[in-house]
Amino acid sequence: MKQVKIAPSILAADFARLGEEAQAVEQAGADRLHLDIMDGRFVPNISFGPVVVRALRQVTRLPLEAHLMIAEPERYLTEFAQAGAGTIIVHQEASLHLERTLSQIKALGLRAGAALNPATPLVLLEEVLAELDLLLIMTVNPGFGGQKFITSMLSKIERARALLAKDSLSCELEVDGGINAQTASRAAAAGAEVLVAGTAVFKHPGGIPAALRAILPAGGRF
Ligand code: DX5
Ligand code: ZN
Repeated sequence: MKQVKIAPSILAADFARLGEEAQAVEQAGADRLHLDIMDGRFVPNISFGPVVVRALRQVTRLPLEAHLMIAEPERYLTEFAQAGAGTIIVHQEASLHLERTLSQIKALGLRAGAALNPATPLVLLEEVLAELDLLLIMTVNPGFGGQKFITSMLSKIERARALLAKDSLSCELEVDGGINAQTASRAAAAGAEVLVAGTAVFKHPGGIPAALRAILPAGGRF
């Protein structure tokens, strides 16, 4: 048995009621808020920036994790730290000097995460694995909510879990994209311990508490 956590992605929330949506997932028992930052360059879509992170920091006690889908993420670390992010996740594909970027995140007093697109092999993070607080395996190509979970990523999740276990690393293993009641249990069985979910949380016809119960049955004990 292991405890799996859920990180609702506010990309799928009603942006006209963002504060209420954040409070609703907090009350329903979410573990943290996942904030998808998109710049229209690293990914085709544009979402929001530090101003919105700062506003959310005022209305919830949940830890905030900023998933930076932006080119040259090292240029914006201080801004997201000052806005109230507790974890910053950068993409391996976007950060040429990744080891330095991770050190800079930690020097700001934050948790450092690295993300991999579906097509990027795990080996590209192997040399910095011991520096990571969080490893994010993308199970869709980043840029949009509401996409279909790429099933072949289950084997990548299993291999990531094995790599972390081999060196007894405490780095969290998180997955992001297309997580719903069905794919959540498969991702958890493959070794994921934090599940990001946007559409399945905020667009659930039964409301947010029902959504979290559907994604994490038995309180997340898989
Ligand atoms: C994709 C984002 C995801 C996305 C998840 O670019 O990184 O966090 O919002 O949304 P769903 O759960 O709808 O796939
Ligand atoms: Zn994300």
